[in-house]
Amino acid sequence: MSEGQLNIGVIGLGVMGQRMLARLATHPRLRATTVWDAQPAAIAATLQAYPELRAADSAEALIASPGLHSLYIATPPAPHMALSELAFDAGLAVFCEKPLTVAFDAARACIARIEAQGQRAAVNFALASSKGLALLQSQFGKGTERPLGDLQSIELELAFAAWPRPWQAAAGAWLGERIEGGFSREVLSHFIFALQRVLAPAQVHSSRVQYPADGISAEIGLQAELQAAGVPLSIRGSVGGAGEVPADLNRMRWQAAAGQIQLQEWFSQIEVRTAAGHLLPQEVSNGDLRLNGQRDQLDQWVALIEGRPHGLPGYAEALAVQETIEALLQGRG
Ligand SMILES: NC(=O)c1ccc[n+]([C@@H]2O[C@H](COP(=O)([O-])OP(=O)(O)OC[C@H]3O[C@@H](n4cnc5c(N)ncnc54)[C@H](O)[C@@H]3O)[C@@H](O)[C@H]2O)c1
Repeated sequence: MSEGQLNIGVIGLGVMGQRMLARLATHPRLRATTVWDAQPAAIAATLQAYPELRAADSAEALIASPGLHSLYIATPPAPHMALSELAFDAGLAVFCEKPLTVAFDAARACIARIEAQGQRAAVNFALASSKGLALLQSQFGKGTERPLGDLQSIELELAFAAWPRPWQAAAGAWLGERIEGGFSREVLSHFIFALQRVLAPAQVHSSRVQYPADGISAEIGLQAELQAAGVPLSIRGSVGGAGEVPADLNRMRWQAAAGQIQLQEWFSQIEVRTAAGHLLPQEVSNGDLRLNGQRDQLDQWVALIEGRPHGLPGYAEALAVQETIEALLQGRG
């Protein structure tokens, strides 16, 4: 394939669809051309912001658009598998939002097809393209020399002043409901992805989940103990925090025999300390980390479309993440 433009169709024009449209507008090769959403108002608002886009009449019509190279799916999880299958029928590469799905049988069938037919498909865990993940892999991944010594334990803290978060206020009701939404699927999944990519699929030893009494709303608390490749991981997640937590927080600490790596704010703030407490310098300034990750992610998408090697998680890796998340949500111990 030449170094030309790659045309992207976008299905799902809510919070995430809009974010991706803005990011795509900055990329030299990826260009959103065609959009569709189940809500006509979302299509109208998108066309107003991006008059150069074309709106399709349906998901099927978008996927059949001539000249399209890839489909980006930013709907809630329920239609992810069916839309992926339609896109594969049309020979498109698919970049799908996480969580992959909560329908495991459909996901397994889709993954079997991807493997049998060599379909191109990846899931948007943005940490896949982060410097923080690369650092963890270089320190603790398989086959590395482990300069900080053997990994002893991992701690993850997640706190949300409110759920859904204010910037997601315009998202559908699904995000705040326990059937498809909640912070475990939305946020914890990113860190389980990072954990499992560096180490191995995790086993859940205990998990306590707190829900509001209404029977509908998503979890407001999660305390869990897991193990991955023999390393214990503890998770503490909460919404509201009874005044203790002023703002959203995500912080992961990887404790090793001769030092510690702490990653905060979506791996954009990284501290590496030796056991004696000395801070080791980082090559890239922390402020640049998130932006670089976003640019790199789009370049990886180009590689996916062109059938070249890339670091984006595939559907099987994303399903393994979701299996851990759903096991946590079922509660244990
Ligand atoms: N990777 C990330 O960092 C990140 C961040 C936020 C959300 N997400 C994920 O992105 C996806 C979308 O989340 P959101 O916050 O944008 O939700 P949202 O509710 O704001 O938007 C979803 C949009 O999809 C549309 N839609 C629903 N069903 C559809 C269907 N069958 N066909 C076409 N359109 C349909 C809705 O009308 C809505 O406009 C979810 O899977 C979510 O978990 C990922």
